[in-house]
Amino acid sequence: MTDISPNANDQADQRTIGTVAIRWHGHQLELLDQRLLPADEQWLALTEAAEVASCIRDMVVRGAPAIGISAAYGVALAARAIEEEQWREPLAEAVAILAASRPTAVNLFWALRRMEAVAEACSTLEEAREQLAKAAEAIHAEDLAANLAMADHALSVMTDEAPFSVLTHCNTGALATGGYGTALGVIRRLHETGRLQRVYADETRPWLQGSRLTAWELSREGIPVTLNADGAAAWIMARGDVRWVIVGADRITANGDVANKIGTYSLAVLARHHGIRFMVVAPSSTVDMKMASGAAIPIEEREGTEVRQVGGAVLAPQSVDVFNPVFDVTPAELIDAIVTEQGVIEQPSAETMAQVFGQP
Ligand code: MRU
Repeated sequence: MTDISPNANDQADQRTIGTVAIRWHGHQLELLDQRLLPADEQWLALTEAAEVASCIRDMVVRGAPAIGISAAYGVALAARAIEEEQWREPLAEAVAILAASRPTAVNLFWALRRMEAVAEACSTLEEAREQLAKAAEAIHAEDLAANLAMADHALSVMTDEAPFSVLTHCNTGALATGGYGTALGVIRRLHETGRLQRVYADETRPWLQGSRLTAWELSREGIPVTLNADGAAAWIMARGDVRWVIVGADRITANGDVANKIGTYSLAVLARHHGIRFMVVAPSSTVDMKMASGAAIPIEEREGTEVRQVGGAVLAPQSVDVFNPVFDVTPAELIDAIVTEQGVIEQPSAETMAQVFGQP
């Protein structure tokens, strides 16, 4: 893994799809190191699947769709690096290493399954190299297309008199996806169409995706954003400042339950209490129809250091016990709309999910 020189995001890309965080050059994958934002824009160049797995685990790249896209490129890199005639086994090992990087976002496993199917259909290593690179590029392009379609679908149910303000959590923008964003894509589209007054961005403790990434991504594109401490969300809602809460997802189960960044569940409870609508925006690669309900979703727990420290500054006794689940599950009954590229599911349930995605 090598550091490469900082490279400002291309202006044209910024206008259409937002900040770019994943670049593919055929022989190497480049990831914008999200651990360093907003202070530094540094890119890492990767040539091995194990490096991609480390970058996913260590949050160089994060956000469910971006994790899936990066893992797909990781498989393509693995195929390039294999020299043995017996290529299937080392390729399967690379897939296993990538699969072990993070447990909650199903996009990772969805992308790896799709790459495995491509490899299975190939008869030679040369063919696999070519087809796997093409498949990863397709996953990347399809994600961007899904985000653009979801923004259209979402706006069709936001019938409010414009302009209005919304609240979001974590980072679901171009940094977390193939471009444009899921929840942040909807917010971007509201802004593009003159319907957005302001975004309230939860800072999203403990990793601070909201303050470090969302506030950065939106302000550099001139989208009006106000950063708030997570604990301020209830008061923002009580004051009547927001009309919608819009969030992304890491896994949506067959009954419409949604795993997303820790703190999402409390926002859904608060939104219901205050009569504010709650929208989840995610591509169908986030839908796991094989899982019956959110109770079965593996919830990642990360190191206590993420809570005890921020940027190296010590905020708590080093010996204190910490519980650091980084996702939670919002029950379907608290969600007003799930938006995928296939359309809008209002009042999600096992029945309405099956109408769109088929019986599990
Ligand atoms: O731990 P992270 O930063 O990978 O968590 C990201 C989230 O929870 C996002 O809301 C989700 O992946 C949707 S991103 C479009």
